[in-house]
Amino acid sequence: MSHSPQTICIVLGTRPEAIKLAPVIQAFQSNPHFTTQVLLTGQHKEMVDQVMQIFEITADHNLDIMQPQQTLADITCRSLQGLQTLLAALQPQAVLVQGDTTTAFAAALAAFYQQIPVGHVEAGLRTDHIYNPYPEEANRRLISQITQLHFAPTPQAVANLEASGVTGSIHHTGNTVIDALLTVAQKQPSCNIPNLDWEKYRTILATVHRRENWGDPLQDIAQGFLQILDTFPDTALVLPLHRNPTVRKPLQAILGQHPRIFLTEPLDYTDLVGAIQRCHLLITDSGGLQEEAPSLGKPVLVLRETTERPEAVTAGTAKLIGTNTATIVTEASHLLNHDQAYNAMAKAINPFGDGHASERIVAAVQNFLGL
Ligand code: UD1
Repeated sequence: MSHSPQTICIVLGTRPEAIKLAPVIQAFQSNPHFTTQVLLTGQHKEMVDQVMQIFEITADHNLDIMQPQQTLADITCRSLQGLQTLLAALQPQAVLVQGDTTTAFAAALAAFYQQIPVGHVEAGLRTDHIYNPYPEEANRRLISQITQLHFAPTPQAVANLEASGVTGSIHHTGNTVIDALLTVAQKQPSCNIPNLDWEKYRTILATVHRRENWGDPLQDIAQGFLQILDTFPDTALVLPLHRNPTVRKPLQAILGQHPRIFLTEPLDYTDLVGAIQRCHLLITDSGGLQEEAPSLGKPVLVLRETTERPEAVTAGTAKLIGTNTATIVTEASHLLNHDQAYNAMAKAINPFGDGHASERIVAAVQNFLGL
């Protein structure tokens, strides 16, 4: 029996969603059973554009909602209303969202209101704390309650979903970030940072952006970076700044003048992968980097009190260190002083996937729709 192509809407708003959905979009686009509609909320502008270009994806619709200093309610309301109109017009058979952003939550809710089945990519991540990360932990829990197809990256995520009593079907797919990472890493990307000689220094790659780290924690983190560089003259720090002024202004003020600190604009994904390959270690509050760095054999010190990615901690490649200045310096110094400790963490392991998650997601949707 032949079917006419079924419409799938894939909604994204921020940079990590673009990275993790790019291979999924490509997999749907190359499958004749589906017509794929890529919907951007526009929660991020420049940071998403970069990723779309690298993976050669174009948006079919863009709600263009971003405003400077947008609040969570702004993002939710504007996305929900814009998607209501789009979904009513497009009448898709399923809507896919990814992760835990406000875009993902609003898109799942918009689909639910129109009784369109939701597929959740990277489902089942959990911390024990509703405010950590904030608001992401609540977003993903809320999405799980209105999702019919849960695409869990790891066995732990499957178990978390089973323990949450969700309805719908749970599929262990692996994390699509590995699909994206392997595609880009194979191209052996370079990473040119003006005036930085990667060969000359042991370079620390750092990123900071999480809401729970705004304010005092951000100051403490920056002081920690300064002390590490002062203690170890053979180190440099590369810190791509998030576009949010709440994050970038204090970091620029504290770190902007140091000769071995390289504050850059957000790196495009190719450069970022090149930077992970060249750096000595990572210090970050990012979720995605906790998944990418172990796959490329780099230790990660995580600037958070909790993680929804315990797989890397269990495997010994990531360590939770929080945001206290003295602790950051102690933990980084330990890795910089002791080769044995460093080598124990610098294992190329891949607890998050095998690079084929997107294919499994397409197959599950196909099966769900009886195609
Ligand atoms: C969002 C996600 C977070 C994700 C992060 C990745 C939520 C609640 N948070 O946080 O889970 O880890 O994206 O970056 O969904 N801005 C620009 N240009 C851009 C992007 C952002 O100027 O391309 C500025 C704007 O001033 C904006 C601010 O950054 O108001 C904050 O963006 P927002 O999406 O609200 O939060 P993020 O911290 O980026």
